[in-house]
Amino acid sequence: MKILGIESSCDETAAAVVSDGREILSSVVASQVDLHKKYGGVVPELASRKHVEAVLPVVDEALDRARESLETIDAIAVTQGPGLVGSLLVGLAVAKSMAYVRNIPWVGVNHIYSHVAAIYLSHGASIRFPFVALVVSGGHTSLFRVASPTQMTLLGRTLDDAAGEAFDKVAKFMGLGYPGGVVIDRLAREGNPSAVPFPRTLLEAGSLNFSFSGLKTAVLNYLKGFTAEFSVSQIRDIAASFQEAVVDTLAAKVMRAARQEDITLVVLVGGVACNTRLREKIAREGETSGITVLFPPPALCTDNAAMVAAAGYHFLQAGQRGDLSLNAYSRFAADKQPFSPQSAQRGRAATKTH
Ligand code: KG4
Ligand code: ZN
Repeated sequence: MKILGIESSCDETAAAVVSDGREILSSVVASQVDLHKKYGGVVPELASRKHVEAVLPVVDEALDRARESLETIDAIAVTQGPGLVGSLLVGLAVAKSMAYVRNIPWVGVNHIYSHVAAIYLSHGASIRFPFVALVVSGGHTSLFRVASPTQMTLLGRTLDDAAGEAFDKVAKFMGLGYPGGVVIDRLAREGNPSAVPFPRTLLEAGSLNFSFSGLKTAVLNYLKGFTAEFSVSQIRDIAASFQEAVVDTLAAKVMRAARQEDITLVVLVGGVACNTRLREKIAREGETSGITVLFPPPALCTDNAAMVAAAGYHFLQAGQRGDLSLNAYSRFAADKQPFSPQSAQRGRAATKTH
């Protein structure tokens, strides 16, 4: 089954063709980073307009590169949410129209399930269920118990900022540009992670939730305390110390989740899972605790449409179908997660009455 995946939840317009949820035939990502850079973050209205311009050329390119066409693909998977509503609607409108014209099945996919599905593309043969997934990106920091590609249970999540958001905001305070994660990762390699003792917020004993706003404020207050210009080595030390606090917290919670769930496979996905120090630290902790740690390559960690097509494949196989009444949703919606055939039936029944 050849699936066209479409992603437009934030500032990347992406399309991909994936065969049987495993083999990537093409993956095209048009980033809007340069557009949003001067504002220091994503401007939703500009993002939507850019998606409108980019989506059809990106879809065409993905089909061309895969040597497929709208006539030869079997189904479409599109990000339904969470994300920026105006941006999501662009991808959804294209997916609905194409599926309607061709009369082929399509499905709206939760972006979080898609991030996790990246691991089926990179490590499909090594995946054993259940596993623990840390989805760590600009919009999310959540831990899941993954029982199957269509069944995930939320174990914990951030109570305030996402880890990627903290990276981006700290980089902004420090005048390092946007998006900040990659820059901090690079500067931190030359810095001393113990230079500044920033706080690690672990919350109450046994909690699998996260909180990064206290750390962000601590870095901000530390920066405000400086009256002179920072030297390059000070910037590297602050970057390394901040990053270490984030990484320590994420590693502690991931390992705690694996222990509490008695699970020996941990998967890291989402943009922050590109972070060099996070990969290194969790891999090392995994080795000492007998836990296998897997992460997709960086291009599958950041937003892309191959992961959407991979996730969509499993929902389609399970019988889920989109219909023209399907709308975008902006926030993480737990009730939109676990797929059950009954919910698909309800969806179909509801459309018939309109
Ligand atoms: O998954 P993603 O592309 O988009 C969302 O769904 O949010 O993640 C983007 C986030 C940004 O906050 C970016 O700063 C962060 O991932 N990021 C990193 C690294 N590469 C990207 N954070 C830390 N270290 C990195 N190497
Ligand atoms: Zn994402």
